[in-house]
Amino acid sequence: MAKATWNLGIVGLRRGRGFVRVFDAHPRVEVAALCDVDEERLAETGEAFELPEDRLYTDFDSFLDAPIDIVMIATPIGFHAEQTIKSVESGKHVLCEQTAAYTIEDCQRIVDAVKRTGIAYMMAENYTYYHYIREWQKLIEQGKLGEIFYAEGEYVHEIVDLLFDEETGTYFWRHERPPIWYCAHCLGPLLTLMDDRIVKACGSHSGFHRMPEQKEHLGFLDMEAGLFRTQKGALIKILRSQVAPRHPTLVWYCLYGTRGQIENGRAGGDGLLYIEGEMSQKEGGRAIKCSTIDPAAPEEARAGGHGTSEYYMIRDFLDALDNNTRPPIDVMRSMDFTVPGIVAHESAMSDGNWRDVPLFDW
Ligand SMILES: NC(=O)c1ccc[n+]([C@@H]2O[C@H](COP(=O)([O-])OP(=O)(O)OC[C@H]3O[C@@H](n4cnc5c(N)ncnc54)[C@H](O)[C@@H]3O)[C@@H](O)[C@H]2O)c1
Repeated sequence: MAKATWNLGIVGLRRGRGFVRVFDAHPRVEVAALCDVDEERLAETGEAFELPEDRLYTDFDSFLDAPIDIVMIATPIGFHAEQTIKSVESGKHVLCEQTAAYTIEDCQRIVDAVKRTGIAYMMAENYTYYHYIREWQKLIEQGKLGEIFYAEGEYVHEIVDLLFDEETGTYFWRHERPPIWYCAHCLGPLLTLMDDRIVKACGSHSGFHRMPEQKEHLGFLDMEAGLFRTQKGALIKILRSQVAPRHPTLVWYCLYGTRGQIENGRAGGDGLLYIEGEMSQKEGGRAIKCSTIDPAAPEEARAGGHGTSEYYMIRDFLDALDNNTRPPIDVMRSMDFTVPGIVAHESAMSDGNWRDVPLFDW
């Protein structure tokens, strides 16, 4: 029987702070404890959301003793593996920010811990839940584009200020994150639409033209590209940058099938859909709206910063807990969205050759 209320704790209160409001849109879950090593941020967030002081923790192990059923992990990626493993080992279900981890060994440790404990794990890949991606999925499932044989994803997000503080010279955790390691915003939606998995990867990068003085810090690579071969024989190209001077941020997807093609607008406006037989070659494809917001969603579903995506992502996670089924982005799917970027970067830093991508299975 479904639990009346799931008690949730959130660790990492920058991104995690925004989630407190998103969880508010779901009466089935209550934010019952918070954790952050930054005492000031912890106290301020606790006060803003009216949590008693004894539910605020700076120490993660003590936080796991709080009366909670679920841990939402929103700390820097380097902490995800350790915090995930400790959480599932203490019997707490996990919703973890993306990506799952930085190394294949850590991914394996997470998979092993989830398998061993039987606890639910979902990676919070929110772009997969964008309204337009969900709309495209319906078209693709109806066979409108035929068999998908090629796809591209580009996520170019200039966040130099999140890599280091120019004035003080202080580096933040993202300075050591190669761009393609953060591949899940691209691979999540594409692999979901293609219902496919990556089996081979290779990569390359353009060096440090933009900030040559930062060449010891891989987060500052200008541009990193990955090519991926899927289990069904399709090809995917991903482009990633954290420093390239492009505004607005580029979040772009494009898929080619045997009967048509679809893409969103590169500047945020309309996208394009072409379906052979339904549209003439002469007139070309038609413009399509690509909103991240589902107009049919309730008002409170817009509380997150990414359209209505986070509302639906959390709904699916809670549904899986209620029904005792695997969440849609379960631990294996989370690795499908994480591991190819690790392998592509390994290739980019050595010979650029294709490498096998390990697949994790139940
Ligand atoms: N899905 C998305 O759209 C999206 C957007 C932004 C960030 N993220 C993800 O969210 C996570 C956090 O990113 P951020 O931008 O909030 O990072 P951040 O560095 O701005 O904030 C991290 C917070 O975690 C706290 N923290 C650090 N180490 C901790 C530890 N060991 N235990 C407890 N608290 C700790 C810090 O004090 C800080 O408050 C990352 O995994 C990132 O990839 C996802």
